[in-house]
Amino acid sequence: MSLPPADLLTHFQALDAFLLAHQALWRPKPFTYLHLPWETNHPELAHWLRARTLAQAEAEYNHPELLAAPAPYPVLAAQAATLSAVDALPTGALHPCSPRLNVDVPGRKWQQIEAFADALTFQQPVSGWLDWCAGKGHLGRRLLQPGQELTCYEYDPQLVAAGQALSQHHHLSAEHRLQDVMADNCQLPAERTAVALHACGDLHTRLLQRATAAACPQLAIAPCCYNRTAAEHYQPLSRAAAASTLRLSRDDLGLPLSETVTAGARVRRQRDQSMAWRLGFDLLQREARGSDEYLPTPSLPSGWLAKPFAEYCSGLADLKEIALPASVDWQVAEKAGWQRLAQVRNLELVRNLFRRPLELWLVLDRALYLQENGYQVRVGLFCTSTLTPRNLMVLAGRAKPFQNGNTTCG
Ligand SMILES: C[S@@+](CC[C@H](N)C(=O)[O-])C[C@H]1O[C@@H](n2cnc3c(N)ncnc32)[C@H](O)[C@@H]1O
Repeated sequence: MSLPPADLLTHFQALDAFLLAHQALWRPKPFTYLHLPWETNHPELAHWLRARTLAQAEAEYNHPELLAAPAPYPVLAAQAATLSAVDALPTGALHPCSPRLNVDVPGRKWQQIEAFADALTFQQPVSGWLDWCAGKGHLGRRLLQPGQELTCYEYDPQLVAAGQALSQHHHLSAEHRLQDVMADNCQLPAERTAVALHACGDLHTRLLQRATAAACPQLAIAPCCYNRTAAEHYQPLSRAAAASTLRLSRDDLGLPLSETVTAGARVRRQRDQSMAWRLGFDLLQREARGSDEYLPTPSLPSGWLAKPFAEYCSGLADLKEIALPASVDWQVAEKAGWQRLAQVRNLELVRNLFRRPLELWLVLDRALYLQENGYQVRVGLFCTSTLTPRNLMVLAGRAKPFQNGNTTCG
């Protein structure tokens, strides 16, 4: 379903109301609570979720809307699905390219790049590209057409050098500039169409600020890592988000990124073990400290998981400078960690219902900011979530309106 232009704001406000109304359900992280505050109000749902297995949680983890759980789950799931519905962007912008251009690019990355490029149906001809946080500049090279210029901004010298070498190898004239995009001296080259594929948090919001200040003619971003920000709390970009009473911590901003990526059995097992052991240790530290509070622990080298559970816990207790209880039945303690993991993953399904609404709220904040600054804006999907879960794109142009309305966000 497509929405008329004004509906970017209407949609944002509906998401805002939904997120505000149900904060008690999505803010607290089951990993850090033995008993979540909302469980008191929804005992049947909590009990039902807690009785399920880890494998059952896994089955619906990335599609929590499919779960037939007790009230109020189905109503919330339906609302979340309606509010998160976004159409695919129109395509057709992808030009043929040399068959060897993708040598050196991992297959999935190349598919993301081609999908991104295909969705760049700008209204104005492109005289040149700016690839923002370009890495080796694969996206920019894929977009570059005869007669166009390409500049890539990247702050990792090795990626800049590798990108330069690749452009030379393909006989493409591109400037790979060593540039910290957060630096005060970072300027946009005039009249370039700017693209940013998966530039994290502050990196893509800086592009929006620079682009509006420089009246950049056209731009497209596919945001990611909303929580990679210098500020502890979210800094709204648009007037609509600034007017909202929703205050987001850096931790909250991590919610949209919490899908489990498709991983092999060994990686999944290792991730599960790491979490189950942390949860097992958490039970022991609560007992040892006589405090019912979660104790954050540092990330640990994977070698720690090869130790016996008892050694793992003693090592972690040393790091945190706490004394564990004198006698521990380690088998029981480890089993308790795995039981908690199953409960945590199932309870997280409630929180996961708000993952996409929160992401869309953040993306619409970016879109509204551009709209407030004189851009015609579209928001839509540029690929399936199996290719990348960060599949939302904001496409903006200063000149004529897009042919079919401004937004495919609906
Ligand atoms: C997630 S990667 C995306 C790379 C590329 N756009 C792609 O999709 O393959 C983010 C890139 O931003 C670069 N980066 C991080 N901080 C930066 C900064 N302050 N200035 C410029 N580039 C930066 C990183 O080195 C990395 O290459």
